[in-house]
Amino acid sequence: MSNTEPSSTEPSDPALPWWKTAVGYQIYPRSFCDTTGNGIGDLDGVRRHLDHIADLGVDALWLSPFFPSPMADYGYDVADFCGVDPLFGDLATFDALVAEAHGRGLRVIIDWVPNHTSDQHPWFVESRSSTDNPKRDWYHWRDPAPDGDAPNNWIESLTFGPAWTFDETTGQCYLHCFLSQQPDLNWGNPEVVAAMHDTLRFWLDRGVDGFRMDVVHLIGKDPALPDEPPDVAGLPHTILNDRPETHALLRELRTLLDSYDGDRMAVGEVYLLDTDLVASHYGNGDELHLCFNFPPLYAPFDADAWRTQISTTTAALGPRDAWPTWVLSNHDNPRHRTRYGNSEEVARAAAVLLLTIRGTPFLYAGEEVGMQDAVVAPEQVHDPAGRDGCRAPLPWTPEASHGWATDDTWLPWPPDAAAANAATQQDDPASMLSLYRTLLSLRRSTPALSQGDLALHLDTGPVLVFDRTDGPSTFTVAINMSGADTTTTAAGTLVLSSRAGGRSTFDGTLDAYEAVVLSAG
Ligand code: NOJ
Repeated sequence: MSNTEPSSTEPSDPALPWWKTAVGYQIYPRSFCDTTGNGIGDLDGVRRHLDHIADLGVDALWLSPFFPSPMADYGYDVADFCGVDPLFGDLATFDALVAEAHGRGLRVIIDWVPNHTSDQHPWFVESRSSTDNPKRDWYHWRDPAPDGDAPNNWIESLTFGPAWTFDETTGQCYLHCFLSQQPDLNWGNPEVVAAMHDTLRFWLDRGVDGFRMDVVHLIGKDPALPDEPPDVAGLPHTILNDRPETHALLRELRTLLDSYDGDRMAVGEVYLLDTDLVASHYGNGDELHLCFNFPPLYAPFDADAWRTQISTTTAALGPRDAWPTWVLSNHDNPRHRTRYGNSEEVARAAAVLLLTIRGTPFLYAGEEVGMQDAVVAPEQVHDPAGRDGCRAPLPWTPEASHGWATDDTWLPWPPDAAAANAATQQDDPASMLSLYRTLLSLRRSTPALSQGDLALHLDTGPVLVFDRTDGPSTFTVAINMSGADTTTTAAGTLVLSSRAGGRSTFDGTLDAYEAVVLSAG
């Protein structure tokens, strides 16, 4: 790429907590790399590719669940919060992974699933055994309605059935905001709070740097468990639950994390599709450090839509001095490469957006090589909620088994795996991987991009334009979000273009879906 060097090479402000200037990298262990030959990725597979991750230039791994689990929801149904499922390795493998990641300057964040357990978790096995079991109240049990219906009208979020299952053993129903194999814990019970705090301590003591907290906005519930009002009845409870009980619980979690050294961080999966409500889960700097915010993920690749997302986020988070996060892809949604129409140019421009916008970005492993969703035939479907496509195995090399121990993988390979892999792209300056590396290196060496303020230019038509400023240093990002060549009023010295061949000068014209970073200095 014939792009010029960044004009600023000062590192980020060391006084800031690491998670403010960091870039996260989500690993879905099952799909990352298999070292044993069972077609399922494992923690040794993550260890094998730590150099790739460090060379890419991200700062923190987020490992999706690797805990013992019957895998009804592929690990989000946890049967033991303090172990490693033998599919993925064992605690010694995990400890080695953390040590090796730390040795490369990478932080390690793990997924913590506080809202529910597996129905095979010993706590639930006990709870369901009798109405007077000491753990009965660790979950939400209610009598069925007099007509035999569920106790309330809540809908679960994976198959959209009732959020209640009748249990023959005791003739009562239990609540599950997800699958029936994922009963909700009752965080109104102090014993549950204490037991779940212990699970955090277990991993903090092992040296993890933080947690991605799964649907953590759900842990506080109205103890009356009332019906949803008629105007929202039929929507999944997940996107509706905004409760004061949760904020009190989050403050306790924050106190626990703050009692450890080293800025241990919590990023909450606050799946409320209203950015003001998401913002409230930062509290007054005393709840979650970061919250995922999903409306931008669901926005089209369109300049008006993104101006709205940026303004909405700034308006919601600004008054709280809360730091934003940005995510385009994860294990629950079609990858953005696929969502945006599989265009390489759009994916390249999206990379510039994600890595220059103000806030902490989280990449989803594979996006750095332009991975698309796999096409999953009906007989290959695993996930009851239809999310298999974005969980396809990551190809590392071009040949048939793509760097896995077998080519017989749990899900089919994504399209174009012979080219969309790290080995093929490694030394190609025009590759997606090279673009991600360049962007991440630029971000790391440019405080204006990693920690600076953002000023949105208005009325710029199909081009999204914003400035990032830190002290005297200003960078302007211009992203043509349309499929037609255009001109922009954005000006400055060219630092980087998303074009595969790069460009050496900038005269105010942008190719279709081209993004540029310009330096005012
Ligand atoms: C959100 C996770 O991202 C998703 O994969 C899971 O199914 C639900 N929470 C339930 O844990």
